Amino acid sequence: MKEYTSFSAAEINPLQSIEEWEEDVLERYPEADTPAKAKEEFRNYDKPARDTVREFYRLNHTYQTYDFVQEKRKEFLQFNRKEMKVWEAMDFLNTLVDDSDPDIELDQLQHLLQTGEAIREDGHPDWFVLTGFIHDMGKVLCLFGEPQWAVVGDTFPVGCKFSDKVVYPEFFEYNPDNGEEKYNSKYGIYEEGCGLRNVLMSWGHDEYLYHITKDYLPEPALYMIRYHSFYAQHREHAYEHLMDDHDREMFQWVKKFNPYDLYSKSPKPPVVEELRPYYENLIAKYLPEKIRL
Ligand SMILES: [Fe+2]
Ligand SMILES: [Fe+2]
Repeated sequence: MKEYTSFSAAEINPLQSIEEWEEDVLERYPEADTPAKAKEEFRNYDKPARDTVREFYRLNHTYQTYDFVQEKRKEFLQFNRKEMKVWEAMDFLNTLVDDSDPDIELDQLQHLLQTGEAIREDGHPDWFVLTGFIHDMGKVLCLFGEPQWAVVGDTFPVGCKFSDKVVYPEFFEYNPDNGEEKYNSKYGIYEEGCGLRNVLMSWGHDEYLYHITKDYLPEPALYMIRYHSFYAQHREHAYEHLMDDHDREMFQWVKKFNPYDLYSKSPKPPVVEELRPYYENLIAKYLPEKIRL
């Protein structure tokens, strides 16, 4: 496998901004509780604007191997980069500016506040609101120079056959694990119904934030954080065979969360300073004074 340092600038940042991935997800899943639109409908990728997304998935599916994930876990789960307050981490995340369309785009903090506020408006428990607010905090990985396809993108299990329900499955052909006998059968290194806690997922902001928060939030919150980009399961049910009953129960929460992530974007930006005290309170209630990244 290629060493991380040998990726070119074009391979590290195939997208203009990581928002492009989320826009693509929204095109694929324009409404709640439905599987992806038929390929023909959503793949109008002949338009050049979408070539970047295609390239993003080519890189993601090529390089997210079992070994790559292990390497990233070793690298990032030491949490030896920064120590900061949660709100500071959000401000840090917000330095990831998207300058592709400054008039329309909401920044990261605004997306997170809108997600949290939509959950709050529906009267859900406060830990659910907090989860909405922090769910993308793991995207700080981008600020550590990580390739976009190792921060965002649909996630999927590694160590077993890649499902053709994952978006752009044809690119898995370039993934070395696809030719490895131990990894390319239906169950690969896993057993039927072994439970997702025993399954290694492709590396990105979801898994990273899960490890940061795992000692502090209720389990449904942790499932929402850890699997919110696992569209192949929560929308397409492609990995039922690895899940156990507990996963199935917890995925009700993942499904409940997803529409807030995808459909809460409103062009009216929330007033950050008005909302800050409420969220600072929630942070203080559940999370430690400082977190390590
Ligand atoms: Fe996310
Ligand atoms: Fe999000």
